[in-house]
Amino acid sequence: MEKFLVKGGNTLSGEINIGGAKNAAVAILPATVMARGRCVIENVPDISDVRVLLDILSQLGAKIEMLSNDTVAIDTTDINSNEVPYELAKMIRASYYFIGALLGRCSEAHVSMPGGCNLGVRPIDQHLKGFQALGAEVTVDGGIIHAKADRMLGSHIHFDVVSVGATINVMMAAVRAHGITIMENVAKEPHIVDLANFLNSMGADIRGAGTDVIKIHGVDMLRPSTYSIIPDQIEAGTYMVMAAATGSSLLIKNVIPKHLEAITDKLISSGAEVEEFDDSIRVTGGKVIKKINVKAMPHPGFPTDMQPQITAMLCRAEGTSIITEGVWEGGRFRYTDELKRMGANISVDGKMAVVEGVSKLTGAPVRAADLRAGAAMIIAALTAEGTTEIEDIHYIERGYENIVAKLTAVGADIQKIIVPDGDSMRQAQ
Ligand code: EPZ
Repeated sequence: MEKFLVKGGNTLSGEINIGGAKNAAVAILPATVMARGRCVIENVPDISDVRVLLDILSQLGAKIEMLSNDTVAIDTTDINSNEVPYELAKMIRASYYFIGALLGRCSEAHVSMPGGCNLGVRPIDQHLKGFQALGAEVTVDGGIIHAKADRMLGSHIHFDVVSVGATINVMMAAVRAHGITIMENVAKEPHIVDLANFLNSMGADIRGAGTDVIKIHGVDMLRPSTYSIIPDQIEAGTYMVMAAATGSSLLIKNVIPKHLEAITDKLISSGAEVEEFDDSIRVTGGKVIKKINVKAMPHPGFPTDMQPQITAMLCRAEGTSIITEGVWEGGRFRYTDELKRMGANISVDGKMAVVEGVSKLTGAPVRAADLRAGAAMIIAALTAEGTTEIEDIHYIERGYENIVAKLTAVGADIQKIIVPDGDSMRQAQ
């Protein structure tokens, strides 16, 4: 079994380079099937979710060529299948984006129900509502989602809930629907805008991405293009919180400061200093961490994918902070049980967590309950006295490229170890 071993207490310093946005990449890579030809996608993050999606593309018949460690060429000319098998689909949430993408390519898709982090109930009713509104016949049978449309027609779609996934999936299908599609009550995250920009670079006609209403004029075909993915807002935010939580000063490079405004605002309120530059941001932790209240909401609110990380920081704030989860029904607070093992004082009631600041956390064996919960464990471990062992690190590696190397380079004492069953720990090769 692989674990992270983190020895807390080090002050960090130096620079961290941010990779391409995971939640943009997992939409843009499937979208390449919508054009027949060779797309070149740049600034692709080196994470396991991307590797799974490239496997799926290859299984569909695409030719994949890594041009560098963050640039991939995807030739979809000879794609000869419209099925995504369970073995691969179950590994990540984003496998369901192949439904919208394949509807956009060949008006038919058969995709196994997705996997992904356990954040409570994760329905896909809004995705199916959107596909049906465009004229697709959608059935779910034996865990497979079947979608088929003789001819997709533009429609006026009003989502019941703001959903990143449904906005992305239906946008892809609507690009190839005849006529005009209006989508309302849509998600506005930076990765929605990034996908729309990519599709437009292939010849789509999408307006309003990033606002409450997206208008799409259907087109007959798309052509392959070269596109660079935006920097990862959540990876950047995670390292910003690490700087504030450890009382360190870090320069976080290759970011879009505007995407980080909600995070910057909360860190300043908690006593950190934040300096914005064109494509970098410096965060300097304050002498103390002040208590703050945080409500995770759809963009432009405070990102739900930053909720575990800021909670980990607030465990050592002066006073009581209140964290409210406004996106995920279950509250996504399972990770707080792990923080309590380190001495945190947190009480959770439904979608609200009350965090009483304590003077110190103590290293302990903990596990990553999901991707962002895993990042929160690292933040807590960096600030704790003693050593913390983190299990289930495959969740963390789904969304944070080279996190051990990036943290080691700024002075963190973190290593990846392999703990065979029953044997002593030994350093990872
Ligand atoms: C995306 O998940 C992200 N994943 C999540 O990030 C992120 O937490 C979430 O958006 C919100 O920002 C990817 O982009 C791969 P939603 P998604 O559809 O699309 C409900 C990470 O850490 N809903 O916006 O699955 C749903 O239950 C991951 O990178 C429906 O009711 O989230 C939730 O309460 C974790 N019906 C809310 O909407 C639907 O058909 C938001 O979900 C779809 C969603």
